[in-house]
Amino acid sequence: MHKVLILLGSHSDLTITDKGLEVLRSFKIPFELRIASAHRSPQFVESLVKGFEAQGGKVVMCVAGMSAHLAGVVAAMTNLPCLAVPVPGAATAGLDALLSMSQMPGGIPVATMTLGKAGFTNGALLACQILATSDAALYRELQLYRQSQNAQVLEADEQHRIIFNV
Ligand code: RP5
Repeated sequence: MHKVLILLGSHSDLTITDKGLEVLRSFKIPFELRIASAHRSPQFVESLVKGFEAQGGKVVMCVAGMSAHLAGVVAAMTNLPCLAVPVPGAATAGLDALLSMSQMPGGIPVATMTLGKAGFTNGALLACQILATSDAALYRELQLYRQSQNAQVLEADEQHRIIFNV
């Protein structure tokens, strides 16, 4: 059973997914990544979301650029948590997608991450955190992940700090 469904509006959006997919793999989250466009293949989007719901899926992540309607359309179809990741595009560096995803009308929530790779990585982590609300072992692993980030910062400080006295 896949716990996370990742929908990409285009195969061109794959460029931002590497680190976040690694997050899901490292926490051993079964996921499915599909290419499905709200504009170019709306019936396919619906069939994927309904199928995911029926098999007991828990979280949907939507990745899209430009007018980026994918997350809003998916959120309208399901009560599963819907996380959105805007992809930077050429015209406005992704501001178009960021605003489109974040400005949902009241009643249909979408949790919009920041742009690009950092957004997709955070989306993957947020999906893990949602799953961890009913999985104590996963919750503990996420705590260890935070501790390792903290250790990395302290190590970077050790290596790069500059103290200038006069
Ligand atoms: C969006 O349009 C996709 O999510 C992608 O970010 C953008 C451009 O798609 P392609 O023309 O590269 O397929 O729907």
